[in-house]
Formats: sequence, structure tokens, C-alpha cells
Amino acid sequence: MRAFITGITGFAGSHLAENLLEHNIEVFGTSLKGERRDNIAAFKKDVTVVTAALNDARSLKRAIDTAKPQWVFHLAALAAVGKSFSAPVETMKVNLMGTQSLYELLRNSKTIAKIVFVSSADIFGPLPPSKMPILPDYPLHPVSPYGASKAAADILSYQYFRAYGLPIVRIRAFNHTGPRQATGYVIPDFCSQITQIERSGKPGTIKVGNVTARRDISDVRDIVNGYRLAATKGRIGEAYILASGKADSIRHYLKLLTNLSTAEIDIKIAKELLRPVEVPLLVGSIAKSKKELGYNPKYKIEQTLLDTLDFWRMN
Ligand code: GDD
Repeated sequence: MRAFITGITGFAGSHLAENLLEHNIEVFGTSLKGERRDNIAAFKKDVTVVTAALNDARSLKRAIDTAKPQWVFHLAALAAVGKSFSAPVETMKVNLMGTQSLYELLRNSKTIAKIVFVSSADIFGPLPPSKMPILPDYPLHPVSPYGASKAAADILSYQYFRAYGLPIVRIRAFNHTGPRQATGYVIPDFCSQITQIERSGKPGTIKVGNVTARRDISDVRDIVNGYRLAATKGRIGEAYILASGKADSIRHYLKLLTNLSTAEIDIKIAKELLRPVEVPLLVGSIAKSKKELGYNPKYKIEQTLLDTLDFWRMN
């Protein structure tokens, strides 16, 4: 089995590569020109990385022709929701047009058996607590540029399945974190600041955004296992949710993190970290993924947070 990961040197891409290697799958992937490859340093000899960009069809075609994959995992995206508010056009170009450019190339492929498109919980937008947990067939009401771009690409994925028979499975992934995730996402943003305070040897203050929002946060290692299960067992044309099934406030996750440190830490709300519009609550139902994919998350959030903080301490 040969798998192709767009964005293999990214956070989730690198964890997915490791998961696939552990299951004896040959792994290929794309990385942007000049992109750091630290995330795959430990196993770079075991994977083939081709420099390519989604919106550069020539480079992308070369990468696909090199891999001749049976499975494609489309992870490459501009994925930081907060940053997307100041880059709406670029976000749509990469996440929607980039997805279409990939699908156009895959229409001519004779080897493809399954395409896993990584969509997002952010496509559902704000919903009242009475609608929780979110089910995979809920209507799409995104409010961020990122959410709009993923909702559009999610619809495009369904359309390419119906019109051209592309064997696409859509995964609406809820929040996930772990070692290697960069700043721009809440847990690494907190871990990087806690680590700086620890290194200073003095009391310090962490800048935070909205801490009342509630999120369903999984370990990336569970989520990428779900991507592999989706390639193995996912029904084409279907949408699945990968999540933990529980939500807590950002304040709660922050407390768990600061409890892992002996440093004296103060919290300050920074206006620039507040978003023009916020999704107050996201919690996903994984009943369908459990039943059809055999999805069974293993990591406890305490372990995930400790591993992520330790990653920042060491890097
Ligand atoms: N990034 C960030 N940084 N968010 C903060 C901070 C901070 O310092 N302080 C509070 N927050 C709040 C945000 O306002 C949001 O309500 C919540 O923490 C989570 O923020 P993110 O980690 O940026 O995640 P997200 O929920 O907006 O989106 C993530 O999850 C999606 C799936 O649910 C991203 O990983 C997306 O790529 C992913 O699709």
C-alpha cells in the first residue's frame, strides 16, 4: 500500500506519516519549498518527500506521479482560525482552490482507491448547547474565513465524488493538539509562554484570548489513527466526525497546563487575541465513527497536555 500525504512535514501530517509507517504502509508526501522538516527528522529516511504546492499544478503532478498512491490524505491547509481573519483571500485560495487543483490531478489517476479529505468542526459555526453533540450531518454555518474555506472544500469534495466518482471520504476533525503543533493554536500558544516563564526563572504573565470558549480537544495521535481508519473502512461520499466527545472551557485547559508547572504564572486577556466572531462551543459525536470506522480514542487530555508542554520545554 502506498500513501500520499499533502503537508507531510506539518503537525498532523508528520504524526500521520509515523502512524502509517507503523502499519507497514509506504509513505510519500509534499512539503512547501523552504519549509522546515524538523517534524519528520526522526524518520525522514523512511518517507519520500517531494517539494510541491497545492496551487502549483506542475509540482503537485510531479509529486503524485512519483508516489502513484492508492491512498491520498489531503491535510495541507492554512489551518489557524485566528490568523484567517486577516488573510481571507489567501485562506480560500489554499484551502478551496488548492483542494480543487489536487482533485483535478487525481481525476486522471489510475491507482487511487481512497481520498481522505480533512475538513473541520469550524464548518458548523456557532450552535446552542441544546444542539450538542454535533452530528456529522448537521448544516454548515461557518463564521470564520477558515471555516468558510473548509466548508466550501467539504462541499467540493462531495461534488467531485458525485460527478467524477472520486473516492473521497470527508473527515470533520475537531480540535486536536500534541507535540509538534506550532503557535497560532491555543495549546501551543499557552505552552510556549509557560516555557518562556520557566526559563526566565521569574514570575511571569501569559497573554490569552477568549478563555470562556469551550472546545472538544483530542490528541493528534488519536486523530491521525482515525484518518488511517477512514482510508481503510470509510464509506466514500460519507462524512465522519473525529473528536473526543467531551468539551471543556479554554480556561480549564489553561488551568491543567499551569498546574503542570511550578512557575508563578499570571493571566492577562489580550484584546488582539479576541476574534471578530467566536464559536462558543464545539463538541462532536463520534457514534458513527465508532460504529463504522472502529474509532476508539486512547489518549487522556492530561497526557496530551503534558507531552505538548514537554515538547516545548525541549525545543
Ligand atoms: N489560538 C489561540 N491562541 N486561541 C486562543 C487563545 C490563544 O492565545 N486564547 C484563547 N483562545 C481560544 C480561541 O478564541 C478559540 O475559542 C479556542 O481558544 C481554540 O482556538 P484554536 O486553538 O485557535 O482552535 P480553533 O477552535 O479556532 O480551531 C482549531 O480547531 C479546528 C477544529 O475544531 C484549529 O486547529 C483548526 O485548524 C481546526 O480545524
